[in-house]
Amino acid sequence: MALLNILQYPHPTLAAKAAPVTEFNDDLKTLAADMLETMYAAPGVGLAANQVNVLRRIVVLDVSEDKSGQMVLVNPEILSSGEELVDHEEGCLSLKGLYEHVKRPSAVKVRAQDLDGNLFEFDAEGLLAVCVQHELDHLDGKVFIDHLSRMKKERARMKLLKIRRKREHEREEEA
Ligand code: NI
Repeated sequence: MALLNILQYPHPTLAAKAAPVTEFNDDLKTLAADMLETMYAAPGVGLAANQVNVLRRIVVLDVSEDKSGQMVLVNPEILSSGEELVDHEEGCLSLKGLYEHVKRPSAVKVRAQDLDGNLFEFDAEGLLAVCVQHELDHLDGKVFIDHLSRMKKERARMKLLKIRRKREHEREEEA
């Protein structure tokens, strides 16, 4: 297994649409294992292939606190969304340090394939619903601040630049 490099916004791959997975082979299993390892090490609750520079429709997630909720979704799609919206403060490993409130449906029904190509469905609510929608967005080239109004998005981008500059500054002082 290997730790993968996580691309930082606004890398073009983060804005690209990932292609469906058609071959359920060992390479796919290795990618999923590496993505899980990378997600846990970050640490984060979800990671999409775009974020590790692979334009394939695969995401990993685990919203549990003890690594017991590991999920790999290949070619995932949202079959239906609840009407109720919830406001949740989201973050992203590709926009490190930035947290913004995003409104999304509070419940979704998801269909995906596992690493052997078997179809399965599940209902997600709470943090899992937020996380699934956030990760599926990545596969379509969307990041969470794309859900904000133009003004709020611009403000968020500025905030992110400031966070990065501060982090760089801190690193320089350590060196
Ligand atoms: Ni993300």
